[in-house]
Amino acid sequence: MKHEIVVTAQGHKGTLERLLQEFSAIKLWEAADRAAALKAAAHIRALAHFGHTHVDGKLMDALPKLEIISNFGVGVDQIDLAAAKKRNIIVTNTPDVLNDCVADCALSLILNTLRKFPQAQEYLRAGYWPTRGVYPLTTSLGGKTLGILGLGRIGEAIARRALGFGMKIRYHNRNKKDVPYAYDADLVALAKNSDVLLIVTPGGTATAKLVNAKVLDALGPRGYVVNVARGSVVDEQVLLRYLQEKKIAGAGLDVFEKEPHVPTEFYALDNAVLYPHVASATVETRKAMGDLQVENLHLHFAGKAVKTPVQG
Ligand code: NAP
Ligand code: 8YV
Repeated sequence: MKHEIVVTAQGHKGTLERLLQEFSAIKLWEAADRAAALKAAAHIRALAHFGHTHVDGKLMDALPKLEIISNFGVGVDQIDLAAAKKRNIIVTNTPDVLNDCVADCALSLILNTLRKFPQAQEYLRAGYWPTRGVYPLTTSLGGKTLGILGLGRIGEAIARRALGFGMKIRYHNRNKKDVPYAYDADLVALAKNSDVLLIVTPGGTATAKLVNAKVLDALGPRGYVVNVARGSVVDEQVLLRYLQEKKIAGAGLDVFEKEPHVPTEFYALDNAVLYPHVASATVETRKAMGDLQVENLHLHFAGKAVKTPVQG
């Protein structure tokens, strides 16, 4: 007999197909009456979660037999970890398998933001090359300092790539690491010492609006912000104003505060490169993430330790 699970959202197609094949699943997003669907699921021990809607104590209470929340994605800022811990619910995520893809995306944002390749292409496609002449000069990566806010699994993969582009690396975490990069114990100091401030911390309340006006002032008018973490880590309205007023040189953003809604004022900016949260979005990586999500569920039902529990 198949084990029963609740699935919160449609998510990645291949993974959803596996979940529906390998488990007996209640599709919460399809329920016309969510409360009734949860009541019918009250005996279910496992939840598979996709996307950025909240998994809070209220949902956990509606599923009183819940033992595991298996998340598709490494970031778990949308899951109330304290509420899960209080109820002895294991939370799992999908670390490491996405490091390379997210790091590739971060490097493409650094390149595109400093070198303005997307804007240069738009210039050509608009037919301006023969009429207005050559595209304005941009700025080089080589010799610039990349300041990484959140030098964890993905941050280290970004640092390795950036070294290949001739960049120097510094970082700020709450804890200094045994790595060959300069450490700034203070985020404002990191911003002051960097040409590009790259954000790759977790989201959630602990990092909310960490990158604020004070940090952007320290980065200065020749500095760039690149964010592949969560929109919540930056004060988005302040960032927008600093870009409009050229108080910083530019920004490359894969994440936004209220996805999928992006303040339309960003669209008009020539000094911003904007991606719709695609850092891990390749066929290979999304499959690897899904495989890990499904594996954690199978391990738990088999009475074994899950592969990737979220710590803390
Ligand atoms: P990780 O290995 O846990 O690294 C996170 C790093 O952030 C750690 O080095 C941690 O060091 C640091 N950090 C945490 N809180 C901090 C704070 N308040 N101030 C300064 N540094 C802090 O996580 P990861 O696997 O690299 O993933 C990082 C995040 O990237 C995820 O949580 C997710 O939000 C985001 N992400 C985005 C995408 C995307 O599609 N754009 C894809 C994957 C991941 P300390 O503990 O020493 O502070
Ligand atoms: C995904 C991510 O886009 O892993 C994460 O934390 O942000 C991305 O890999 C997201 O989890 C899919 O919902």
